[in-house]
Amino acid sequence: MGIYILGIESSCDDTSAAVLEDNKILANVIANQEVHKNYGGVVPELASRAHQQNIIPVVERALTIAKINKKQIQAVAFTNGPGLLGSLLVGTSFSKSFALGLNIPIIDVNHIQAHILAHFIQDDEAEKEFPTFPFLCLLVSGGHTQIVRVDDYFKMEIIGQTIDDAAGEAFDKAAKMMGIPYPGGPLVDQYAKLGNSDTFTFSKPNIPELNYSFSGLKTSFLYFLRDNLKTNPAFIEENQNDLCASIQKTIVEVLMDKLKKASLKTGIKQIAIAGGVSANSALRQAIVDGQNQFGWKTFIPKFAYCTDNAAMIAIAGYYKYLNKDFAMQDITPFTRQ
Ligand code: KG4
Ligand code: ZN
Repeated sequence: MGIYILGIESSCDDTSAAVLEDNKILANVIANQEVHKNYGGVVPELASRAHQQNIIPVVERALTIAKINKKQIQAVAFTNGPGLLGSLLVGTSFSKSFALGLNIPIIDVNHIQAHILAHFIQDDEAEKEFPTFPFLCLLVSGGHTQIVRVDDYFKMEIIGQTIDDAAGEAFDKAAKMMGIPYPGGPLVDQYAKLGNSDTFTFSKPNIPELNYSFSGLKTSFLYFLRDNLKTNPAFIEENQNDLCASIQKTIVEVLMDKLKKASLKTGIKQIAIAGGVSANSALRQAIVDGQNQFGWKTFIPKFAYCTDNAAMIAIAGYYKYLNKDFAMQDITPFTRQ
C-alpha cells in the first residue's frame, strides 16, 4: 500500500482537491469560479467566498473518485502561497482542521514550485518519462514568468524573470483590449487558430540577460488598436483572429528567445514548461520544435496539470512527506514570492 496524500489548492480563483497514491494520481477535481467573468478579473473577496462554498464538495468528490476513505489519508498538502490572502486562508484553514481531526501531518506547498513539480505526476500514461535533474523550466502563469533551473525537487534557482507583467497578464490584457472576456488567454489561443500570425507585427522588448518585460508590448498593442479604430471603428471585429494570432506569436517569440538563450548559457537541454500559459498551443508547438532545432528533450504537461490544480500540490506534498518535511499548525499563508 502506498502513501495517500490529499492536496488542496485555493491560491486564486480555482478550488481544487486531489488524491495521490505515492506519485500516482487517483483524483484531481477543480471547481472554477464563474463569478469573476462579469468583472473582467478576479475579485479577491468573491474568490474567498466561492472557495468557502466549494471546498467541502470538491474534497468529497475527490475522495469519492479516488475510492478512498478519509481515514486512509496520511497527510494533507496545501498551497501556502503565493496567492490571494483570503483565498489561501480557506485552503489553509480547511487543511489544518481536516488534519487535526484525523491526527495526520500537514505539508505547506509553494504554488510556484508545485507548478514545476507537476511534471512528476504519474497518470495513466504507462510510458511516461520524467525530467531528470538538472532541467530548465519556463514557468508562465497569470502572475509569474520565470526561467527556473531545477537541480532537485526543492532545489530551484530563478535565472530569469519578468520585470513587470507576466506572460499570462499580457495575454489577458491584450484580450481585454479586444473586448474578449476574462480570462482571455485561452480564447486568444482559440481565435488565433483561425487567424494569420503574420498579419500584424509588434516590436519586441529589448531586456538584458534572461529577464522578460511585457508592459511595453501591452502599450504598443493598445496604441496600435487605438490608431486603427480611429479610421475603422470595426477594426477589432474585422481582424480579431489575425490580431489574436499576431499578438500570440509575438508573446511566444519573446518567451522562446530567452529560453533558447538560457539553454545555451547553462548547457542544459532538458526543457520543461509549466503554469497556465503552458496550455497555449503555439507555445507548446514552439517547445516541440525546439527538439529538432536545438536537440532539446522537452517535457510538456497535460492540459489538466498546466493551470491551477491540486494534483501539483499533492505531488509536491508527496516529496516533502518523504523528507518528513511537515508544517506546524500555526503556519500562516504568504501572498508574495
Ligand atoms: O497558472 P494559472 O492557472 O494561474 C496562475 O497561477 O496565474 O495561469 C492562469 C493564466 C491566465 O493568465 C490565463 O489567461 C493563462 O494562464 N492561460 C492561457 C491559456 N490557458 C490559460 N494563456 C494563453 N493560452 C492559453 N491556452
Ligand atoms: Zn498557478
